[in-house]
Amino acid sequence: MALRTRLTEKFKIEHPIVSAPMGFIAGGRLAAAVTQAGGLGLIGAGYGEPAWLERELDAAGNTRVGCGFITWSLAEKADILPPVLARAPAAVMLSFGAPARFAEQIKAAGVPLICQAQTLAHAREAVAAGADVVVAQGGEAGGHGGSRATFTLTPEIADYLAGNAPDCLLLAAGGIADGRGLAASLMLGADGVLIGSRFMLSAEALTPPGFLAALIAADGDATQKTHVPDIVRGYSWPAEFSGRALKTRFLADWHGRESALADPAMKAKAAERYWRAFRAGEPEETGVFIGEAVGLIRDAPPAATIIARIAQEAERLLAGAGGFLVPV
Ligand SMILES: Cc1cc2nc3c(=O)[nH]c(=O)nc-3n(C[C@H](O)[C@H](O)[C@H](O)COP(=O)(O)O)c2cc1C
Repeated sequence: MALRTRLTEKFKIEHPIVSAPMGFIAGGRLAAAVTQAGGLGLIGAGYGEPAWLERELDAAGNTRVGCGFITWSLAEKADILPPVLARAPAAVMLSFGAPARFAEQIKAAGVPLICQAQTLAHAREAVAAGADVVVAQGGEAGGHGGSRATFTLTPEIADYLAGNAPDCLLLAAGGIADGRGLAASLMLGADGVLIGSRFMLSAEALTPPGFLAALIAADGDATQKTHVPDIVRGYSWPAEFSGRALKTRFLADWHGRESALADPAMKAKAAERYWRAFRAGEPEETGVFIGEAVGLIRDAPPAATIIARIAQEAERLLAGAGGFLVPV
């Protein structure tokens, strides 16, 4: 048995599973592994460091992968987009900011446009920009996002698309880490899923190895929404987005005390602590973005294993779903 959806048809992939463009974490190796396993892999361009991006695009080799940008950051360094488009990526994903400015350029290159939306208003913007795929991202998600929940945002955007842009596909994101999440997402009206946290714990991710034990031990209560890592790193995120990260000692020290970081010396010290521990893989002394789905993750196998597990579990659940129906 296999799952066929509009997503698998459009991108000619085997499973309706897309890996999220996680900044610093989703490089070419992970994206390529996901595509080779029958999903669609996206490289996370993050804050757009050109040398890093080129290296990771090279690392994907000839495997068809896409690339995701943080839209407000891309707007500050728009010249990183053309070299990516020149490589004819499988898709370009824009998240966190108005997509209109880049949509035409992406579509003119013949590249499918995926827009991540945290609200209905974002979904409307994505459709107006000509998105081929909208991602309904719930606040359970790891990394940055809004506050709506996947369980209500997905069907609401599904209804909106059905009425206004029936050819536009929909992915659900936020809290999906196993076959139950994939099966439920399809029932909510999605054509597939975009998964981040689960792939952060994969053999091919660039996750600092020192983070793995803490993430595997964590349950879903162990994350919080915060602006602290952005303030410390000096990234000017729009206020509507905060990051979901593991509750660590570093966050405990600064969450609620953000105003103290207005002092440049204090901020510089905190940034030094953050980056040193991030590079050393010491989770308690830094920020570790991860979603509530961390409570469903107990290992870090190859991406191909993750995809096979999710697809097989979803197929089994959907095949058995008729069992809920009894003749009356
Ligand atoms: C470590 C991490 C980094 C992320 N970085 C980005 C990013 O740079 N750009 C982006 O569009 N989304 C980013 N995301 C969010 C994902 O696109 C996606 O919405 C999210 O991972 C889905 O929820 P899940 O983590 O529960 O699977 C990130 C997520 C994580 C876990």
